[in-house]
Amino acid sequence: MKVILPKTKEDFEKYYDLRWRILRKPWGQPRGSEKDELDNTSYHVMVAEKEHNPIGVARLQFNNDNEAQIRYMAVDERHQRRGVGSLLLQTLEKFAREKHASYIILHAREPAVPFYQKHGYHIAGKSYLLFDSIQHFLMKKIL
Ligand SMILES: CC(C)(COP(=O)(O)OP(=O)(O)OC[C@H]1O[C@@H](n2cnc3c(N)ncnc32)[C@H](O)[C@@H]1OP(=O)(O)O)[C@@H](O)C(=O)NCCC(=O)NCCS
Repeated sequence: MKVILPKTKEDFEKYYDLRWRILRKPWGQPRGSEKDELDNTSYHVMVAEKEHNPIGVARLQFNNDNEAQIRYMAVDERHQRRGVGSLLLQTLEKFAREKHASYIILHAREPAVPFYQKHGYHIAGKSYLLFDSIQHFLMKKIL
């Protein structure tokens, strides 16, 4: 398993494809719905087994000098609970520290809350409901 920073057009096609398959497709959302306007200025990371075929992807954005935010963390179902998410999270946290962020926030889907708690994030409040079904929780970790 290795960490890759996507660079080429092909890397990014695979990166967004996995993001879409895990976070959008199961709810009938079209391709393109997995992207937003901050993708161009965010830090992207993926984990691959071999070549550049990602089995996990994630993104970090900066909301201001102190606050970093993790979004779009997605691990292929066949590779969950093997440490891929942890590796993605550690890589993003390392980058946030290097950029002198004070803390990280994220909006966790309810089933992912225990994963983030295991990594030192605490629930700061109930957040939004996505696609009328997925409850999110605002979580925070001081770096
Ligand atoms: C949430 C997610 C990113 C976690 O990635 P992962 O690679 O499966 O997680 P890891 O293997 O690194 O898990 C590390 C630890 O977190 C905890 N954990 C992870 N998934 C968990 C779950 N579903 N329920 C309870 N604890 C969980 C466990 O303590 C786990 O350690 P263990 O397997 O030794 O018990 C991944 O399951 C995923 O992509 N889920 C679907 C999409 C999603 O919900 N993304 C998050 C959007 S906010």
